[in-house]
Amino acid sequence: MEKLVVEGGRPLIGSIPVSGAKNAALPILIATLVAPGEHRLGNIPDLADTSSTLSLLGRIGCPSLVNGVVRIDTSRVAFSEAPYDVVRKMRASVLVLGPLLARTGEAKVSLPGGCAIGTRPIDQHLKGLEALGCRFELSGGYIHGTVHDLRGADIHLDMPTVTGTENIVMAAVLARGTTRITNAAREPEVSDLCDFLVTLGAKIEGIGTSTLIIEGVPRLTPASRPYRIVPDRIEAGTYLCAAAATGGDVTLTGVDPKLMEATLAKLVEAGCDVRTTEDTIRLTRSRQLLPIKVRTEPFPGFPTDMQAQLMTLACFSKGTSTFEETIFENRYMHAAELLRMGADIQHAGRVATVRGNPPLKGAAVMASDLRASAALVIAGLAAEGITEVLRIYHLDRGYENLVGKLRAVGARIARVSDTVQDPAKLKAALDDLGPSVAPAEA
Ligand code: UD1
Repeated sequence: MEKLVVEGGRPLIGSIPVSGAKNAALPILIATLVAPGEHRLGNIPDLADTSSTLSLLGRIGCPSLVNGVVRIDTSRVAFSEAPYDVVRKMRASVLVLGPLLARTGEAKVSLPGGCAIGTRPIDQHLKGLEALGCRFELSGGYIHGTVHDLRGADIHLDMPTVTGTENIVMAAVLARGTTRITNAAREPEVSDLCDFLVTLGAKIEGIGTSTLIIEGVPRLTPASRPYRIVPDRIEAGTYLCAAAATGGDVTLTGVDPKLMEATLAKLVEAGCDVRTTEDTIRLTRSRQLLPIKVRTEPFPGFPTDMQAQLMTLACFSKGTSTFEETIFENRYMHAAELLRMGADIQHAGRVATVRGNPPLKGAAVMASDLRASAALVIAGLAAEGITEVLRIYHLDRGYENLVGKLRAVGARIARVSDTVQDPAKLKAALDDLGPSVAPAEA
């Protein structure tokens, strides 16, 4: 396995291109199942989760080719199943449920189970699909769904679940009659999925609002032009936090600032100077960071996927910041690791209090989930000395070329085998401007 070694204390300066959004790419790749034929998708990020999704589609019988644009051939569906070995690596696999039921009348998906940030049930996915006429049975850890007559229905979600909304929409587009989803998730990635489905011939009204009205159609067909995925607002926000924590000056390109207002507002509250154009964001930070108040909420509120990164930033401020996590019950795993670097964080239940206590000191820390890992990288970039971030496979799930992008703006960061302990070898990896992987220690 590999780890990241980071030498902190350098302001990040320069420009970073933002990749396509992971959370839009995964449902859109899976949504190709609803329209038999060849699909072309652009701006799909090169991530471990993308590969997992393409391999899942391959097992279902839909081969793909990646060459800049991703091509997927969904002409034939051979198996309607997402097995445990795929689902346990990537919860988003549960998104095949809606499209497979709509396409073949059957779907078998391993139940995802809990994860590092909470129990994460899928009851709302099932409730919505049942309203459309699907029946489910649980056996051997698998949910087995069948449907004979997929028909539109009124569905009110108990909470605006992102993948839940997506699963229901992907089935409803092929149902007989009208489906009305109220309290639907409004995240830009849900809208991107809906926009993609519209290019296949789906009829969806209310895109971007909490009421989606879907008029089912008998069939959908692949679009003639490649569909381009929206920019990743969480990747973008992560690099802005890194720039802010290091007192840098970074311009993001290929980004959509309109999708990131809640995050940008917090960065301004923290004392950063943020300037935007239609597709760029420049962040500079030339003064002491200020404390912030963060409460996670569904879009357009502050995203839970940015909470960990902002908490790291708060550690470098002067004053007391407060965080309230309202989406997931166990999303402060990064706090314990930040404490190892000298942070002063206390949390009880959903509330955390951060007393800014710069500087943090480099240490070996363990990544627990994707965004917690990103938070630890930011901490390492701004801390004194060397930080080692272990279990970086989480980062590979969601950040395309993280090391390359950060190096390009002056970060001292490298990927090394986690057997490398010798400080001289770690330093050599940081000094090496070439390939970022140091050989394993003999
Ligand atoms: C998606 C994102 C994830 C993000 C999250 C919240 C993808 C692939 N992942 O995850 O990065 O952190 O949205 O913005 O897009 N819930 C239920 N029952 C359900 C469904 C959800 O109780 O059937 C609860 C969850 O436990 C959680 C809340 O609803 O407390 C929101 O979760 P949800 O929006 O479903 O998250 P995901 O779609 O899994």
